[in-house]
Amino acid sequence: MSDTETSIKFSPIIIGTMRLGDWGVKMTTNELEKFIDQCLDLGLNDFDHADIYGHYTEEANFGKVLKRRPDLKSKVQITTKCGIQLTTPNRPHHQIKSYNSTKSHILASAENSLKELSVDCLDLLLIHRPDYLMNAAEIAEAFQKLKQEGKVNYFGVSNFTPSQFELLNSVTPLVTNQVEISLLHRNAFEDGTLDKCQQLGIRPTAWSPLGGGSIFSDKENLTIKRIRESADSLCEKYNISLDQLLLAWLLKHPSGILPVLGTSKMSRIEKAKTALQIELSHEDWYLLWEAAIGEEVA
Ligand SMILES: NC(=O)c1ccc[n+]([C@@H]2O[C@H](COP(=O)([O-])OP(=O)(O)OC[C@H]3O[C@@H](n4cnc5c(N)ncnc54)[C@H](OP(=O)(O)O)[C@@H]3O)[C@@H](O)[C@H]2O)c1
Repeated sequence: MSDTETSIKFSPIIIGTMRLGDWGVKMTTNELEKFIDQCLDLGLNDFDHADIYGHYTEEANFGKVLKRRPDLKSKVQITTKCGIQLTTPNRPHHQIKSYNSTKSHILASAENSLKELSVDCLDLLLIHRPDYLMNAAEIAEAFQKLKQEGKVNYFGVSNFTPSQFELLNSVTPLVTNQVEISLLHRNAFEDGTLDKCQQLGIRPTAWSPLGGGSIFSDKENLTIKRIRESADSLCEKYNISLDQLLLAWLLKHPSGILPVLGTSKMSRIEKAKTALQIELSHEDWYLLWEAAIGEEVA
């Protein structure tokens, strides 16, 4: 990515890496290399990481591929996150789980991510969760230093409320708020998150866009039962699968939601890409909303 662009250009679907390593399917370096190549062949070059994934091991797995295949470094676009401190044998000095958005922590975490991922520059760095003790001016100082040193191109946040977003965005430009959005998790539609993005022309990125997979597997949850019943007829009507329908539902929102997919299966990523062409009708969007909330809108 060129750092002269005023805002990052995301690919229309972002590939999440949380479940590729120790927190999921435990891909080998060979498997991960093949996976990255196949994503790039589909034109999907955005990979979403976090320092903590796999208990602080996933960035290094990805970095091993980039070390072996330096040609990939200019092709992939890397987002990573900082600010959550996990208690794990990999961080024995963390006594309790906490959030840390101090300047020194952000700088140290970004340096570590660069080393683990084996790149000279991160395309996008997100504050993973709002730190109740966050000092916006201090975060801005850290971001400015990383930008000036050519170590990070763009900055954003994740799981921020609209007012937290506004606070930080007033002192340093943010390019996204990555929040949980799906038919099972609809807060962003109502708490001002998507309004704020639309107002500022910022693309929201949606984690767990398919409810983390539960929508396919949970047979007991009543909300899921209702969604699946309504979805069946719509899948038939549009001749699409359930995952494509759930993505088309997100993509219809005018704020330009970018799904961060969590699947490790290439066939599912290919299907997700074709969901970009599906145009759900206004009423069909509300049919699914109604199924999710369990009643018609007021
Ligand atoms: N910012 C944050 O706080 C935050 C929090 C959580 C996650 N994230 C990011 O968001 C990404 C996505 O999150 P997620 O993994 O929860 O997203 P997701 O796409 O909603 O869920 C992925 C899970 O659903 C399963 N799945 C997908 N399609 C399926 C289908 N058609 N049938 C059955 N199972 C299916 C996948 O299994 P298969 O692998 O078998 O397809 C995988 O286990 C993560 O990788 C991470 O990068 C960010």
